[in-house]
Amino acid sequence: MSLLGIMAALPQELGSLIESMKACGEVRVQVIGRREYHIGVAFGVPCVATLARIGKVAAATTATALIHVFGVDEIVFTGVAGGVHPDVRVGDIVIGESLMQHDLDASPLFPRFEVPLLGMATFSADSALSSALASACSSFLADEHSALEARFGVHPPKVYRGMIVSGDRFVSSHAEVNALRSALPDALAVEMEGGALAQVCFEHDVPFAVVRTVSDTADADAPESFIEFLHALGGTYSSGILQRFLVARRALAP
Ligand code: ADE
Repeated sequence: MSLLGIMAALPQELGSLIESMKACGEVRVQVIGRREYHIGVAFGVPCVATLARIGKVAAATTATALIHVFGVDEIVFTGVAGGVHPDVRVGDIVIGESLMQHDLDASPLFPRFEVPLLGMATFSADSALSSALASACSSFLADEHSALEARFGVHPPKVYRGMIVSGDRFVSSHAEVNALRSALPDALAVEMEGGALAQVCFEHDVPFAVVRTVSDTADADAPESFIEFLHALGGTYSSGILQRFLVARRALAP
């Protein structure tokens, strides 16, 4: 079976994945660039799981090690994000079908957002991986319906698929999130790693997918909302989504 890289920025965003790997058998740990790479099997799927920490450099170097050192065939990134589109609420899940770096601006030398000399601004996630994640998210939300209803009331969380934008900023003001909405009207959510992972994976022909639960709406309440959501629900969402995704992947494997 192919080898899957699984990345997150913070421990809560990986949920109970490492414990699940330990429950499946031996987990070998290799340290590279001050990061621990956990090599083992989760729910029957061979994988390398690691914490990238926060930001685009962190994501790019971690993805590069997963590809060059461990030879992963595919990469999935899981975590939280700020909602950017007005319809996207805290508790919703966004699958990044396309990723871009909202803070990349070498204009007037190159068009704003374009990765210089690559001639591209947006990178497409792998459609099969993204669809498999979307199914896992839908079944997680359906299975956890009662618990989620108690928290989110009349607005049960939804799964969205579309553009995620990334940058080395925690977006936390109305002015900044409104500027993102104006510049990038298709953006559903903002985070700090996906666009960098996407560029590295494109450059190495490695299929990838990004799944993000909305922890805040990138406005003045974002810092408080982010911390509260991360601790209360970040792990529950990531564990629930990854478990369903990996079990389904195992079932489909030859
Ligand atoms: N990750 C979660 N919330 C975020 C925000 N508001 N800005 C950037 N990254 C985030």
